[in-house]
Amino acid sequence: MSHTSLDWDTGPAGQRHAAVPAEGDATGLGAIAEGAGRVSVDDKAMINCRADVNQLLPLKYHWAWEKYLAACNNHWMPTEISMQADIALWKSRDGLTEEERRVVKRNLGFFATSESLVANNIVLAVYRQLTNPECRQYLLRQAFEEAVHTHTFQYIVESLGLEEGELFNMYREVPSITAKAAWALKYTQNLSDPSFGTGTPEKDRGFLRDLIAFYVVFEGMWFYTGFAQILSLGRRGRMVGIAEQYQYILRDESIHLNFGIDVINQIRAENPHLWTKAFAEEVREMLREACALEVAYGRDTMPRGFLGLNAALCEQYMHFITNRRCAQLGLSPLFPETENPFPWMSEVMDLKKEKNFFETRVIEYQNGGALSWD
Ligand SMILES: [Fe+2]
Ligand SMILES: [Fe+2]
Repeated sequence: MSHTSLDWDTGPAGQRHAAVPAEGDATGLGAIAEGAGRVSVDDKAMINCRADVNQLLPLKYHWAWEKYLAACNNHWMPTEISMQADIALWKSRDGLTEEERRVVKRNLGFFATSESLVANNIVLAVYRQLTNPECRQYLLRQAFEEAVHTHTFQYIVESLGLEEGELFNMYREVPSITAKAAWALKYTQNLSDPSFGTGTPEKDRGFLRDLIAFYVVFEGMWFYTGFAQILSLGRRGRMVGIAEQYQYILRDESIHLNFGIDVINQIRAENPHLWTKAFAEEVREMLREACALEVAYGRDTMPRGFLGLNAALCEQYMHFITNRRCAQLGLSPLFPETENPFPWMSEVMDLKKEKNFFETRVIEYQNGGALSWD
């Protein structure tokens, strides 16, 4: 692997930094370095690390461990939520308008395969490149949550009797969805190559691009229009079972997003040479493109709009969200200051406070506590 051929400061024999074998240091599956020096927190690093990745303790990245704990406290399963009201509404002839049906179907179609794309990127690309056990512990939990989310769409399709092929092929058949998936996949192609490794500035930046495309754009921007669409229906008493499931997914995704932001900013802090002016501009351009793709998707899913929601409001919301993501990455905003057209979204995210939001059965899950959810 290319990581292992790096010219790291091996130092004199017996020095702490010489503790790891040359082979397999980034995977954690290499030969055991018997009698090697013990790992200290100073040896740990986000990327290109030589310290043993099998030693969770001593903890260095407490923020990653705290997110792992918060995620475990948020455990839920889609099958705990009743779909009876949704089934009755979906099957009744006049229950939903054509516009609402289109939004629900396109929305489900986008998420159904997006959850798998995100999961595959975590397992096949990101996990290998993040070389510390705290982040890997969280990634293992996140991978399971993405499986739960994919399960949610299987459960919805089964409950409503939707056409499986139609939903799961939308990312190949609906151009506004294809455009988004294709844009993100561009950034993970190199990383899914088993021979890819970080270790040069260009490769390290390639990894950062992947993290930005998936954590900031996919999970942190594109999911949010979808959440707003379904939760807006839920607020009006429509498709309340799906809305409740989306509420739980949103809570999970907001931790995924915040984990991704922390990972990116930590890599940047440890490797300031990567974040050049040109690279910062490139990231802003990525967010600008991603925002434009989302606005196009909003117009495609809601050509006419319905009570409380339309493509213009979704565009405004996406500008608000994009500016927020810029701020989280320390970038200047892309759009003039925009008001959040859906202030109720942040209330929906706080499940403890808004337990009876949809007046459906709500299970008492522990809340993630002091994390910032937006
Ligand atoms: Fe997800
Ligand atoms: Fe996610």
